[in-house]
Amino acid sequence: MKVIDSDFVKKFIKLADDGNKMGWHERNGGNLSYRIPEEEIAPFHSKLNYSGEWIDIGTSVPELGGMHFIVSGSGKYMSNMLADPENNCAIIELSGEGRKYRILWGLKSGGRPTSELPTHLMNHEVKMVATGGEHRVIYHCHPANLIAMTFILPLEDKIFTHELWEMMTECPIIFPNGLGVVKWMVPGGRDIAVVTSEKMKKYDAVIWAHHGLFCSAPDFDLAFGLAHTIEKAAEIFIKVRSVTDTKRQTITDPDFLKLAEAFKIKLNNDFIDLPTLDM
Ligand code: 13P
Ligand code: ZN
Repeated sequence: MKVIDSDFVKKFIKLADDGNKMGWHERNGGNLSYRIPEEEIAPFHSKLNYSGEWIDIGTSVPELGGMHFIVSGSGKYMSNMLADPENNCAIIELSGEGRKYRILWGLKSGGRPTSELPTHLMNHEVKMVATGGEHRVIYHCHPANLIAMTFILPLEDKIFTHELWEMMTECPIIFPNGLGVVKWMVPGGRDIAVVTSEKMKKYDAVIWAHHGLFCSAPDFDLAFGLAHTIEKAAEIFIKVRSVTDTKRQTITDPDFLKLAEAFKIKLNNDFIDLPTLDM
């Protein structure tokens, strides 16, 4: 079987294409990575080139040493992923101490992994540890309504989480831990990666003010579904705000607690203003 026909490449391409259809990937906007399990990469070892040069990641991710990832390329368009994956993404291997990577496959006509590689890998490291290895996908997109929200609300985790939870009944069920918000920072380096991965210890999604969203999930569907839910809630927020400054009614804190009870979820109490009720 060719690398391109593997299950993980097909799912990687599908998410890129789904995000593109949502309008979240203008030009080369956004990027994607997947921590490939050993059993999924093993059948392809003979098709990978293990003689490429080692390149500095720009940060250190010792827990991920020796692991394989598939990542989108820097400057590459998600809109081209479906037609030409081999030129728009790469399979990389990390060095044993987690400071360097080398390209084993893909980016056929040249190029480098996404400029957000430090954030992707530091998020992978944090989420792998926090979830006992369950989380494997990190997805970054530029959804317009969520970005618009970052010009309106104070850039605080609690305020964004509460507002988005209120916008759609499913939100507290889908992101019960809430969301992190990172103030505007220069993207593409270690500094923003450190701040984002610190927030990823607590949350599965982190908003970059005036820029976009990072999601972490066990698989591609869940990563896309999380981004889709957050952006849909943001769209509702923008629609409501476009009409009025005040809500006539909303989903209240006691309602959140009823939801938590009905759906057997543990909501992040930091984001509920009421004292926790006995359940
Ligand atoms: P890359 O093309 O390097 O992935 O950058 C796109 C982006 O969204 C940066 O935040
Ligand atoms: Zn971006």
